[in-house]
Amino acid sequence: MPNWPPTDGAGGSASDGPAISLRGVRKSYPLGNRNIEALRGIDLAVERGGFTAIMGPWGSGKTTLLHLLGGLDRPDAGEVVVCGRALAGLSERELTLFRRREVGVVFQQFNLLPALSAMDNVCLGGLLDGRDGPALRARGMELLAELGLSDRATHRPDALSGGEQQRVAIARALLFEPPLLLADEPTGNLDSATGELLWRTLREVASRRGMTVVVVTHEPASAVQCGRVIVLRDGLVAGTLNSDGMERGDLALRAAVLARA
Ligand SMILES: Nc1ncnc2c1ncn2[C@@H]1O[C@H](COP(=O)(O)OP(=O)(O)O)[C@@H](O)[C@H]1O
Ligand SMILES: [Mg+2]
Repeated sequence: MPNWPPTDGAGGSASDGPAISLRGVRKSYPLGNRNIEALRGIDLAVERGGFTAIMGPWGSGKTTLLHLLGGLDRPDAGEVVVCGRALAGLSERELTLFRRREVGVVFQQFNLLPALSAMDNVCLGGLLDGRDGPALRARGMELLAELGLSDRATHRPDALSGGEQQRVAIARALLFEPPLLLADEPTGNLDSATGELLWRTLREVASRRGMTVVVVTHEPASAVQCGRVIVLRDGLVAGTLNSDGMERGDLALRAAVLARA
């Protein structure tokens, strides 16, 4: 489709350099009269292209990190640069556009709107962006077809299987052809066979586009499919593993050692 993605700043990236760069990133949540320090000074860089996994025990800050990368939340301190954009320098309006157009996010719980059809869930970001009409619907249909969901366009989420719902969520994330895809335990609510299929789908859509993908996962079998694994522990980067050529048991062991050391 020649008119998609839109060329008025959507998609693409602001400059060269790594896809993601974090320096001294801190984030805490108030809880009663305490402060939970979810991230306590994160430094990391992710090069463009390919898959990076984030592993770590429950509560180590993985979801908080992903939310900061996606512009869904702001850090208390430190610098978050995504695709050449320093997110702290963006106004609320610019951050909204960044979230909508430049980064796709896939959640464990799918997070589809239950009252909307698969098609409308995929196209909602385009409507919010003021894009209506046949081009948007054609774009939605193109993505649903790519995800093998052509015959599910009019179904609401409750009429779809978990795997289908997550594929709708992937189609939604791709609407503006963002350079970066973030996924938070995307197969956590799927059985293992469906999860494996979903991983294959993620790999296909990402490699077709040369996207940068960051995936939070508990599964060593998934993490070994990523070139690089960042292990978080207690809100800090405990270490980085290159999973290329590693066996899943080996990776699980090394990640566990890093996470507990
Ligand atoms: N909205 C919130 N309010 C209070 N505490 C939170 C909130 N979100 C996360 N936390 C706390 O921050 C820490 C990190 O959480 P999270 O980023 O969700 O970790 P993970 O995804 O690795 O399990 C945990 O101790 C968690 O309880
Ligand atoms: Mg989490």
